[in-house]
Amino acid sequence: MNGIHPDIDRVLISSEEISRRVAELGAQITHDFQGEDLLLVCILKGAFLFMADLARAIDLPLQTGFIAVSSYGHSTQSSGVVRIMKDLDQEVEGRNVLIVEDIVDTGLTLSYIAGLLTGRHPKTLKLCTLSNKPQCRKKDVPIDYCGFVLPDEFVVGYGLDFRDFYRNLPYIGVLKPHLYKDSTP
Ligand code: IMP
Ligand code: MG
Repeated sequence: MNGIHPDIDRVLISSEEISRRVAELGAQITHDFQGEDLLLVCILKGAFLFMADLARAIDLPLQTGFIAVSSYGHSTQSSGVVRIMKDLDQEVEGRNVLIVEDIVDTGLTLSYIAGLLTGRHPKTLKLCTLSNKPQCRKKDVPIDYCGFVLPDEFVVGYGLDFRDFYRNLPYIGVLKPHLYKDSTP
């Protein structure tokens, strides 16, 4: 991809920085779970690129699962309503489960999913997020692995979307505010 997308105000995290950080997270997870195996649970759709890269940076016996939730509709504000659109195929009981998310904003999505999976009695349950906007928290969630802390701005790229677009940008950037300021859910 050449140059910066015209809808992007500025790049916050370059693709090189993302690659470096994902390699570090993979190494740390590999170290922390030594001798164990791991079920990575991707929260669709936003985490699909991050999880694809993270999985390849982890050197452990590893399985992958996918769960799809809907929390925002098409708005940039959290509705607080989380719906399961597609559940995991795997059993969670007795497994080391690592939830992989794109961004923690209000925390509502992740706390709902963590609660759901805790109820299925995993051996361990940990959370890994590509990015975190701690200023926006409504519900506290314990994050075990975090790629980047971001300012309170609406970002897209590397899986993060606006109206399902921009996921394919190789960097994380701030979307020009005029593109979403007048949008309705
Ligand atoms: P939460 O429930 O408010 O923590 O929202 C988490 C979900 O909201 C993420 O999985 C994203 O899909 C979406 N989200 C929150 N902030 C942003 C952002 O800045 N850009 C794109 N998506 C976001
Ligand atoms: Mg989204």
